[in-house]
Amino acid sequence: MSKEQNSSAPNELEPHCFIILGATGNLARKKLFPAIYNLSAKGVLKNKSLILGVARNKDHNDHSFRVLGREMLKAFASPLDGGRYSSWCDKCLHYQPLEPSKIDSYKDLATRIQALERGKNLPGNRVFYFALPPEAVAATLKGLGNAGLNKSRGWTRIVMEKPFGKDLNSAKELSRQVHKYFNESQIYRIDHFLGKETVQNLLVFRFANTLFEELWNRDHLENIQITVAEDIGIEGRSTYYEQTGALIDMVQNHLTQLLTLITMENPASFDSDAIRYEKAKVLQQISPIQPENVVFGQYTGSKTRNSEILGYKEEPGVSKTSQRETFVALRTEIANWRWKGVPIFARTGKRLPQRLTQIAVRFHSPPISVFNQSDPNSKIEPNVLIITLQPNEGFDLQFQVKSIGQPVKLTTQNLRFRYSETFGSLPDAYETLLLDVILGDQTLFVSTKEVEKAWKIYNSLLRNLGNPYPYPAGTWGPSEADKLLEKQGTKWLNP
Ligand code: BG6
Repeated sequence: MSKEQNSSAPNELEPHCFIILGATGNLARKKLFPAIYNLSAKGVLKNKSLILGVARNKDHNDHSFRVLGREMLKAFASPLDGGRYSSWCDKCLHYQPLEPSKIDSYKDLATRIQALERGKNLPGNRVFYFALPPEAVAATLKGLGNAGLNKSRGWTRIVMEKPFGKDLNSAKELSRQVHKYFNESQIYRIDHFLGKETVQNLLVFRFANTLFEELWNRDHLENIQITVAEDIGIEGRSTYYEQTGALIDMVQNHLTQLLTLITMENPASFDSDAIRYEKAKVLQQISPIQPENVVFGQYTGSKTRNSEILGYKEEPGVSKTSQRETFVALRTEIANWRWKGVPIFARTGKRLPQRLTQIAVRFHSPPISVFNQSDPNSKIEPNVLIITLQPNEGFDLQFQVKSIGQPVKLTTQNLRFRYSETFGSLPDAYETLLLDVILGDQTLFVSTKEVEKAWKIYNSLLRNLGNPYPYPAGTWGPSEADKLLEKQGTKWLNP
């Protein structure tokens, strides 16, 4: 695994200070503190983590922040173990106010970190987690760098959340600013989809099983469909969403990561450099998306007898004339020997009928049918491998069987595997990713190269999104998204 120069062997959990910048915000409350607590409660962190919450609020101190910590855990961590979480907060949580635009404030932060490290006899290993809005990132990088917090006696790592820029140029500029103070081996860019067990399993599924890998190419596959559907709306995030929309929020990162994992070549080893190398390579081969191969949509309100769902334009904080897309469907291809000619369809949207992340791999139909083609009972459906990444995680392999009796009637049946039946519940993606940061394993994080190559695929679209087609909340998006597949003689595999 790739590690920065001044750290020790991989997978050794070393004592460290975990600094959360933006410690009172939504991400910290809902994901980071619960994930760190769960890792501690499971004994994974072996009491080696000291946590320093940093935020603008000057009124907080260690004591009041611990009270807040208990509230966060009560609301968002599960399962909570009696009073243990309370003593964990008292023991592990600390607080330091920071005025992001003031240089001296970063010096105070440095002094505080050093004092905590001395008090606990820590070797100077530090994680800085940027749980910050995108506009606060540049000033914070500069502040940390100027205060000398980009290096220490031990290792220093920073964790950054997506979106990394809002187009290719801003992503390059952001990389330039980050690299001024930190080198690539210190930077952990989170795409939390990569922390999901089922997403990681895509690599094991592909490269530890010969059965499918032999068939994973244009000779055997008709198309691939990636669906990331959400039934929720924008959940009060109008300011963020009005600036981003589904293309930047979901497609450029989460869907593109799924696409790379499902189509990349076999890496030379299961090592972060080897995996990132293959991912970057396939990203480079994905044809930039043409406007005629994309459909944008925006949900409108819908009413049933029992409930009413607001349309996107009616959501609090959204402009009544907003043309922001809440749905994207697209078709692309990969220009290499393995994939040439295999259409890849991807779609994502808010307010779709259900929460579902799924990759459907559709095999070719038999070249000719020996069954009576004029009889609908003898129609052959192609084999489909459905990889369900969430919820109800697992695999289904659809194949044809003969129904009992005469005349011959074909029916589609499934070979089925469900994670929950074998492994019980799966950990939250953030637990996996935070632990990897602490261990210094970059495999599940996105490199600068990947970020820039992913932006290149969508960059020309960003300049001209056009008006989205309306779709009623609770449906699978505008009908134009279906036509994208009909043009290719196929259809979305809806559940
Ligand atoms: C986030 C997006 O990255 O992923 C959200 O900003 C989206 O808009 C979320 O709802 C989906 O993540 P998950 O893990 O709930 O599928």
